[in-house]
Amino acid sequence: MRRSARDTTMQITEDAPLDRLNTFGVPARTRWLARIEALGELPALFADPRLADLPVLVLGDGSNVLMTRDWPGLVLTIAADAVSSTRAADGSHRVRAEAGLGWHALVEWTLARGIIGLENLVAIPGRVGAAPIQNIGAYGVELDEFVESVEAWDRRGGGFVAIPREACGFAYRDSRFKSEADRDRFIVTALNLHIPPGRSLRLDYPGVREALDALGIETPTAADVARAIAAIRRRKLPDPREIGNAGSFFKNPVVPSAQADALRARHPALPSWPAGPGRTKLSAAWLIEASGMKGHRDGDAGVSDRHALVLVNHGRATGTELRRVAERVITTVRERFGIALEPEPRIV
Ligand code: FAD
Ligand code: EPU
Repeated sequence: MRRSARDTTMQITEDAPLDRLNTFGVPARTRWLARIEALGELPALFADPRLADLPVLVLGDGSNVLMTRDWPGLVLTIAADAVSSTRAADGSHRVRAEAGLGWHALVEWTLARGIIGLENLVAIPGRVGAAPIQNIGAYGVELDEFVESVEAWDRRGGGFVAIPREACGFAYRDSRFKSEADRDRFIVTALNLHIPPGRSLRLDYPGVREALDALGIETPTAADVARAIAAIRRRKLPDPREIGNAGSFFKNPVVPSAQADALRARHPALPSWPAGPGRTKLSAAWLIEASGMKGHRDGDAGVSDRHALVLVNHGRATGTELRRVAERVITTVRERFGIALEPEPRIV
């Protein structure tokens, strides 16, 4: 049943499937599904008496969620995708993008206008609105470096707000928006980025220079870096259009450096990176592979045989079956290395 409110493009559907709204492709339903085309429709949506007091889950492309049950309230998707930029006298750019724009489309939009900075974040799936939730990052760059403010609808106060970067609590794969206190409070409506001038290209992440060499490029442009990184990503990560997945299922664990040193003394091949004073980040993929779990499969739920950090749906796995595989990985790595892995996606 579809009911469209007059004078708006808002669509509200009762009892809708979410199978195509999660890149794991697991079955799930929601009591209500709403899609808004314009941000100005949000006040009317929340004034709808059918939706009052229901739990709200915002979804972009569902590339970082695992649905293990039906959603008892409202799932909201945002299609508003306007983007614009201004250039300041110092050569910096301010870019404003609405939540429904594809993240990769935004990266391409900036590169096409000679705006340099987002190239290492090329080809990350999902929408702009989800990008600040886990502070997306890849190939040595994290989103928060560019965030000036996050525009949102505050469900607590019932109004539009702009949250400056300092108040977003960004960290590795984390933000205020994921915190217990504020989870599902803010519906991100737009992102304001500030991209400084004269930013040099970041080529230090292992494999980037090699990928540029493979393309025969000696003096890369930002667009070349994007092309090289997109090629690495295609090689390393399974494509959700071919096999259901949500990218990395676990965060790389950040541990006290003394613990990392002790582990590395026993396992010199374990990749690790400095992660602030006295802290070291370890490669979860390496820990999983060394635990013998890469390629593990239980029915249609499994660990990718291409990248150990990625859980995959070989066909008809359910969210519960995938969660069981995740638990098995966590237990195996804890028993073998004494390290507690944490899931990265939102588990519903
Ligand atoms: P969804 O999965 O729909 O939502 C993710 C979370 O954000 C949920 O909690 C949801 O409620 C919340 N959310 C979504 N939109 C909004 C909104 N407008 N307001 C409030 N909350 C919202 N991530 C990286 O950081 N780096 C990578 O390199 C990377 N590679 C990936 C590769 C693959 C193959 C895949 C499948 C995923 C990868 N990811 C990566 C994870 C994913 O792409 C990002 O987390 C992305 O930002 C999710 O976008 P989405 O629109 O699909 O969000
Ligand atoms: N590795 C293994 N086995 C594997 C895969 C990788 O041992 O099966 C080792 C590699 O040899 C390498 C190390 O793990 O030394 C790191 O691998 P990779 O460069 O693929 O990066 P990652 O740490 O596994 C992180 C992000 C990715 C992001 C890449 C590139 C997290 C949780 N994941 O993966 O993000 O694209 O770095 O920056 O931080 C995502 O969040 O969904 C995601 C894909």
